Amino acid sequence: MGKIVIAIDGYSGCGKSSTARAVAKELGYTYLDSGAMYRAATLHFLNNFLSPTNPQDVEKALKTLEISFHPNPETGRQETFLNGLNIVDEIRSMRVSERVSEIATLKNVRHELVAQQQRLGKKKGVVMDGRDIGSVVFPGAELKVFMSADLDTRSVRRQQELLEKGELVELDEIKNNLAERDRIDSSRKESPLLKMPEAMEIDTSDLTFESQVAQIVYQARQIIEKEQSYAGNH
Ligand code: DC
Repeated sequence: MGKIVIAIDGYSGCGKSSTARAVAKELGYTYLDSGAMYRAATLHFLNNFLSPTNPQDVEKALKTLEISFHPNPETGRQETFLNGLNIVDEIRSMRVSERVSEIATLKNVRHELVAQQQRLGKKKGVVMDGRDIGSVVFPGAELKVFMSADLDTRSVRRQQELLEKGELVELDEIKNNLAERDRIDSSRKESPLLKMPEAMEIDTSDLTFESQVAQIVYQARQIIEKEQSYAGNH
């Protein structure tokens, strides 16, 4: 069966990761979380007291940074590893969220991570979410999705997510963090977040999770079918 690449971009905290994971499961594709890679790089800078404004530190960070994904044997979910250590929970902490946009503005960091992402998606059959997936990482993706949701909805969802991981954070703090990340991610020089004109737009503020997943899966199946009938006729 012909496989495609699905690129899901959008603002912080609008449900991209959980949606992308469910779409991948439904289609039997691999889910790849590019944000987790920027978060892993951020944790690496923090753990090693490396400064993102010092070019020598950035070089050192990239030389010693090894990110990999391995499925959890019990849940089957892909989990992120940094230099061999499972960092799946640590990268979601506020400590990392507060610094990640700054690290994601660094040209050399982006260069390295984009190359890794492109290698991971080479065989197609992947759903990747992030900010520059449809524009830079996979500009030829057969399906591009742009997700958004209003700031209040996103903040409440993110607070719930952190609570489930045992971290109690004030709503205002979360709101400020999301708004600030939106600002940095959209205005940075290197691959800013932007909606590609061909992308399917989904505002999830008033959608159920099931329906946003179903919309993307439906669209993906249409494209896969079209690709197959084209391949059959040529
Ligand atoms: O999707 P997320 O919230 O886990 O992403 C964390 C940060 O990483 C986000 O603030 C911006 C950055 N990011 C990026 O610049 N490019 C990507 N492809 C994915 C994430």
